[in-house]
Amino acid sequence: MSTLKITPSGRLRGEVFVPGDKSISHRAAIFGALAEGTTVIRGFLAAEDTLHTAGALRQMGVTMGGVGTAEMLIRGAGLRGLFAPGTPLDLGNSGTGMRLLMGALAGQTFSATLIGDESLSRRPMDRIAAPLGLMGIRVEGRGERCLPPVTVYGGTPAPIAYRSPVASAQVKSAVLLAGLFAEGTTSVTEPALSRDHTERMLTAFGVPVEAGTGPDGPYAAVTGPATLHATEIEVPGDFSSGAYFLAAALLCPGSDVTVREVILNPTRAALLNVLQRMGASVSIVTEKNQAGERVGDVRATFGRLQATAVAGAEIPALIDEIPLLAVVATQAEGTTEIRDAAELRVKESDRIALMATGLRRMGARVQELPDGMVIEGPTALCGTEVDASHDHRIAMSFAVAGLIATGMTVISGAESIATSFPGFAEALRALGATVEEA
Ligand code: S3P
Repeated sequence: MSTLKITPSGRLRGEVFVPGDKSISHRAAIFGALAEGTTVIRGFLAAEDTLHTAGALRQMGVTMGGVGTAEMLIRGAGLRGLFAPGTPLDLGNSGTGMRLLMGALAGQTFSATLIGDESLSRRPMDRIAAPLGLMGIRVEGRGERCLPPVTVYGGTPAPIAYRSPVASAQVKSAVLLAGLFAEGTTSVTEPALSRDHTERMLTAFGVPVEAGTGPDGPYAAVTGPATLHATEIEVPGDFSSGAYFLAAALLCPGSDVTVREVILNPTRAALLNVLQRMGASVSIVTEKNQAGERVGDVRATFGRLQATAVAGAEIPALIDEIPLLAVVATQAEGTTEIRDAAELRVKESDRIALMATGLRRMGARVQELPDGMVIEGPTALCGTEVDASHDHRIAMSFAVAGLIATGMTVISGAESIATSFPGFAEALRALGATVEEA
C-alpha cells in the first residue's frame, strides 16, 4: 500500500497540464476496437483503468500500437469481429471499463467473463444486466446485485426503449453499445443528463445519434445494426484531474494556478458553476472546440468562499468532483448542503462515508446524509492519518485538504491515484506543494 504525506503548503503558482480524459479514453479504445479501419488516438490516458480496458480488447484479438505513447493506433475488428477471450477479462478497478464492455459484449458471438479487483467486485452490475436482460441478453453475476465476476452471453440484442432509474453515463453507454447490434432503434431515457461523451463520439465514428429531452427526461437513441468508421480522436485533458489543482488554488492563500487544455463539456464541468456560486475566483481563460468537445484553460486564484447548495440535475455533471467539493466546503462561510448524490455510495468506495469520516477526523464539521453531506464552514483542518480505501478520488481530495491542514496529513491507500492520474504528486510539487510518496 502506498502513502502520500502532505505538509501544509504556502501559495501554489503556475500552469499544469493533466493527463488525457478517462471517460473519453475508455470510449475511444472500445469504439476504435469495434470500428472498421484504423483509429488514431492522440493523448490516450495511460493510467491503470484505461490500460485495463485496452488490455481486455487486446485479449479479444484487437491489435493496438503505441499504447502509452502520444499517438495510439487501434486496428478495428468491426462490430462483431472480437474473438472469445481464453481467460476472464480483468478490468482492475474500472467500473467504466467493465460496464461499457458489457454492452459491447452483448452482441458478440461468444460469452465472456469479466473480473475486477476487490473494489470493483463489490460494485453492482445489475444496472447493466437488467437492460441487457430486457434486450434478451443473459448476464450472470453474484447475488441479487449481479456483482462481478460477471458473464455476458453474447447474442443478438433486441432494441428497447429503456428508462434508466439512475442518471448514469455508464448505463446509458452500455445500452447504446448493445443497441448498435440490434435491428431497430434503442433509446435510453435518464432522470437527468449524465455525461454525453458516448453520444458525441459515436457521431464522430459515423453513427447517427438522436438526442434530446422528452417528457420523461433526457434521452439518446441509436439505430442498428450500425457500422462504426475509424476516425482520429484528440483526447483533451481530464477536467476531473484538473479540478484538484483548481480547488487547491482556491484554498491556499496567495495561489494562482491555471489548468491547461481540459475538457469543459457542460455535462462534466458543473463544478465550475458551483465554485463560481460560492464566490470563487475561477474562470475559463481560453476556450476552443476540439472534435465536438469544448476544451480550454481554467484559472483559479485564492479567495473567500460562501456556502452553497448542490442537488438535482447538477449532481451528475459533477459526480466525481463531490469529494473534492466537500473539502472546499469546509473552508466556505456557512452551511453547504449536497443532496441527491446517493450514487456516491456505489463508486470505487462509499465516497459519502469516507469523506465525512476523514474530514471529521481532520476537524471539519460534516454531517452524513443518506444521499449527501451537510458541511459547516469555515473550520481549521488539522493533519492526521486518513484512509483513502484504495479510491483515487478520495486520496486526491484528502491531498488537497492536507495542503491547508496544520501538521502532516498521511493518506493511506494512495496507490489508487495511478488508476486515473499517474503523476499527480509530481504535478502538485511542481506548483510548489510539499508532497512525499512512500
Ligand atoms: C463515467 C461515468 C460516471 C463517473 C465515472 C466515469 C463514464 O459514472 O462517475 O467516473 O466514463 O461513463 P456513472 O455513469 O455510473 O455515474
